[in-house]
Amino acid sequence: MTNDSGTFTKEASGNLDQTLRPQNWEDYIGQEKTKENLRILLTAARERGHAAEHVLLYGPPGLGKTTLAHLIAKTLGTNMRVTSGPAIERVGDLAAILTNLSPGDVLFIDEIHRLSKSIEEVLYPAMESGVLDIIIGKGPSARTVQLDLPPFTLVAATTRVSLLSSPLRSRFSGGTFRLDFYSENEIADILRRSASLLGMDADSKVLESIAKRCRATPRTANYLLKRCRDLAQLDGTDITDDIVERTFALLEVDELGLGKPDRAVLEAIIHKFGGGPVGLGTIAAATGEEPSTIEDVIEPYLIRLGLLERTPRGRVASATAHDHLQTT
Ligand code: ADE
Repeated sequence: MTNDSGTFTKEASGNLDQTLRPQNWEDYIGQEKTKENLRILLTAARERGHAAEHVLLYGPPGLGKTTLAHLIAKTLGTNMRVTSGPAIERVGDLAAILTNLSPGDVLFIDEIHRLSKSIEEVLYPAMESGVLDIIIGKGPSARTVQLDLPPFTLVAATTRVSLLSSPLRSRFSGGTFRLDFYSENEIADILRRSASLLGMDADSKVLESIAKRCRATPRTANYLLKRCRDLAQLDGTDITDDIVERTFALLEVDELGLGKPDRAVLEAIIHKFGGGPVGLGTIAAATGEEPSTIEDVIEPYLIRLGLLERTPRGRVASATAHDHLQTT
């Protein structure tokens, strides 16, 4: 889709998610305590003319950790360099990133729980003392060279804070913030903003039904909104209740917002393992999902709904989960 001058509009250029990402704090809905604490930390650092201290953001996927990192860099008035745990394979990769930062820059490391031990060890002195210790050579002739780094702020994100070593966790001196699932009202506000940015006409009732079935997660809410818009466009109608219901049916999203992988986990526990307790690896083998996907993506919302419990002997499905599967 092109505009009058024949160039692609921001939306038509394909990256809808970028279009919907809040560009300032006023548009970032929810997570009030985290926003308030960050605002104080960042404003004070900026007023002092110092790089802000390092910040760790954690919580289930899709709740806005990357968006917050962008807002942090914007508030500090600095550039943000983006990388991730799995992308930093060798010590040299991290050294190259750190030595190329400009003073005050934000370095965003997503999935920081996937950094290897040897790379974590290079990160410690960089975070704590702003130096890079590099070992040159091998064996008895090996020596350490210490490089001074420009002051920087590490913003790290993870879905699995329990996998971080305690030395790494303790170096986030600016704070560790947990992002929570959103309330239905907050999601409805997020959807209202998204619908307006996408030029859609969607009434409150429609936005509320999506808000009820998006796993309390903005990314999922926006995804469902876009799929409703697609179907409405093909049908040549507005987004009506009927379009929303048909979209949920097509995507196999049930009344609680659970998708096929969520139900597969509950079904495996209930029908194959007598309701549990059953180990994560066994559930993974029975459903064909990766254990990490079950732990990071699927379980947190099932736990929040009270459908699943993690016990020392394994996962247990609740009576509500039995009832829910019977009605779907
Ligand atoms: N998109 C993703 N997270 C959001 C949030 N918290 N507020 C507004 N839009 C969002």
